[in-house]
Amino acid sequence: MYFSYKIIFLFFLCTWGAKAEDPLGRFCNENTIIGSGGKLSANIDKILTEIALKTPSTGFVATTYGKDQDKVYALAQCRGDVSTQDCSNCIQDATKQIRQRCPNQVDGRIWYDYCFLRYSNKSFFGEVDTSFGIFYFNVENVTDPEDFNKELGALMDHIRAQAVVPREEGLGKGKSVLSPFVTLYALVQCTRDLSEISCAQCLSIAVNNFPNFCSNRKGCRVLYSSCYVRYELYPFFFPLDSNKTGPSNTAKVSVYT
Ligand SMILES: *[C@@H]1O[C@H](CO)[C@@H](O)[C@H](O)[C@H]1NC(C)=O
Ligand SMILES: *[C@@H]1O[C@H](CO)[C@@H](O)[C@H](O)[C@H]1NC(C)=O
Ligand SMILES: *[C@@H]1O[C@H](CO)[C@@H](O)[C@H](O)[C@H]1NC(C)=O
Repeated sequence: MYFSYKIIFLFFLCTWGAKAEDPLGRFCNENTIIGSGGKLSANIDKILTEIALKTPSTGFVATTYGKDQDKVYALAQCRGDVSTQDCSNCIQDATKQIRQRCPNQVDGRIWYDYCFLRYSNKSFFGEVDTSFGIFYFNVENVTDPEDFNKELGALMDHIRAQAVVPREEGLGKGKSVLSPFVTLYALVQCTRDLSEISCAQCLSIAVNNFPNFCSNRKGCRVLYSSCYVRYELYPFFFPLDSNKTGPSNTAKVSVYT
């Protein structure tokens, strides 16, 4: 097994659909503690206001605020398939929650299903970052792993190829009918600051880490700072195929590499 990781941060079971506004995860870099009330902290607040305002219209903002040692870089992005309204709600939640959850860190990141937000005093635009990952997986296993993995692999290849076409803006999604009663849905999304090569690289790292936590699972999500990968046996991306959703027990693991 090639995958090496230093710490598995937490592991718990949760019931799907607990609270809508709860993020899927967050990362506060403890090596970047700053006092509140400083210029840097004020600049973070300023850039978050700008992000909340500007992200919904295009679904993506990468911007800076301030100068010299107080310069802040921020990136916010909604998943390419969500509506402007869902994007706006998600970004509002993200900009509020991140300051509560990372009050003293200058490198903060927060993940939701519909959006992702990150800021730092260090430039990170265009860089693939898979140093911190969150995995969510369905605790149930598929009954026919061999066939399932073949179909999943083929679908993933297809949508990864889609995501690196420039006009797709890092989004790939699709479905595969496994039987009259079972359809597999999958989606990948890179942050839009990445080049095609970097997007492909991030998605490849995510998919190559499937065996660690997603193996034979009925559903799985990999959340990185540069890309998002998810598959489920129920519709979850827009336009929604139908309104059946997945009531399922999900486990979460956070991994530092
Ligand atoms: C970012 O802020 C941290 C904490 O104040 C500081 O240690 C670090 O040198 C800063 N990095 C840059 C690139 O300014
Ligand atoms: C699914 O498979 C994993 C690994 O083989 C096992 O640990 C787990 O208990 C299985 N889950 C269920 C619900 O049977
Ligand atoms: C969604 O569910 C409702 C009732 O539960 C049903 O009337 C409606 O047709 C469903 N819509 C779709 C698109 O399946």
